Amino acid sequence: MLDEGLESITGIGSKLASELREAGYPTIESLAVTPPREIMEKTKIGFNRILEIQKAAREMFSVDFKTAQEAYEKRKDMRKCTTGSPKLDKILGGGIETQALTELIGEYGTGKTQICLALSITAQLPPEQGGLGGSVAFIDTEGTFMPERVYGIASKMGLDPAVVAKNILVARAYNSSHQCLLIDRLFTLCKENNVKLVIVDSMISHFRGEYMGRENLSERQQILNQYLHKLVRLAEAYNIAVVVTNQVQANPATFFGDPNRPAGGNIMAHACTHRVILRRGGKGTRLATIIDSPSLPEEKTRFKITEKGVEDAPEEKAGSKITEKGVEDAPEE
Ligand SMILES: Nc1ncnc2c1ncn2[C@@H]1O[C@H](COP(=O)(O)OP(=O)(O)O)[C@@H](O)[C@H]1O
Ligand SMILES: [Mg+2]
Repeated sequence: MLDEGLESITGIGSKLASELREAGYPTIESLAVTPPREIMEKTKIGFNRILEIQKAAREMFSVDFKTAQEAYEKRKDMRKCTTGSPKLDKILGGGIETQALTELIGEYGTGKTQICLALSITAQLPPEQGGLGGSVAFIDTEGTFMPERVYGIASKMGLDPAVVAKNILVARAYNSSHQCLLIDRLFTLCKENNVKLVIVDSMISHFRGEYMGRENLSERQQILNQYLHKLVRLAEAYNIAVVVTNQVQANPATFFGDPNRPAGGNIMAHACTHRVILRRGGKGTRLATIIDSPSLPEEKTRFKITEKGVEDAPEEKAGSKITEKGVEDAPEE
């Protein structure tokens, strides 16, 4: 089992963490669910200290009841980060949320990475300017993170690009197990660097490439599920916004409607709080549609990828409609 950073539990330093690891408790879960006596027998840690550690571990792992009032207070800490496009923010319910996973789904070139890059900059803005006032951790699995683009967007926004770039921690993941290792690292990284936005672009591409064939599907889905839930816990424990990107896969058995559906199946659908489908929207614009959200209506809007990152598309002509295909002008009278 991989280490998820015992050090991220309040009150655990590196010495105590290694003592617990050596005693056979490598993860926050393992600490949260073990009887305290057992830990006492296997370590030199005092009983009351163990109870304290377990309380902190359970809070992070959310295995305890809490009151609705506590849950309400926690929801009040939720923040929203602007994408740069007020219309896109609006259909997202005000922006990309903390304490949640937002999934950007689309074919190649629909703007997933561009939105991630734009968010890496806007997340650093203070809350009164629509940001999260924190730094960013970016896991790049496809080698498409472009630092020049970060510099470009930051300077167009009137920010100092070098300062902005210093607050983005980027890691290139070379395969799925490396990607998992990097996600495990996030627990300590986010705490030490005031990270408020985590991006995994793309969550699924290595998994799809490495686990080919039906016989490997259940193992793939199990690991994917485990790591998506780590990201959910990270988002909740540290009030972080997590954005993952996903591809669409063709479903040859579709006769009606869109034959493309998000990859990753139910595992992906259930772990992600908000799902946004991106398509090409005509005239160089992009179309974003909210799907499957527990709290947001299924709305559509258009946006543009520009030198400044992500911006609203120009107003549609009166009477025109946004459809699956983009914008359809009203029929001529
Ligand atoms: N500086 C820019 N100005 C305008 N459009 C840009 C700029 N940089 C990239 N793009 C657009 O972004 C598209 C790529 O989007 P991207 O986010 O990489 O797609 P995805 O990650 O969904 O595969 C390109 O086709 C291009 O149209
Ligand atoms: Mg991309």
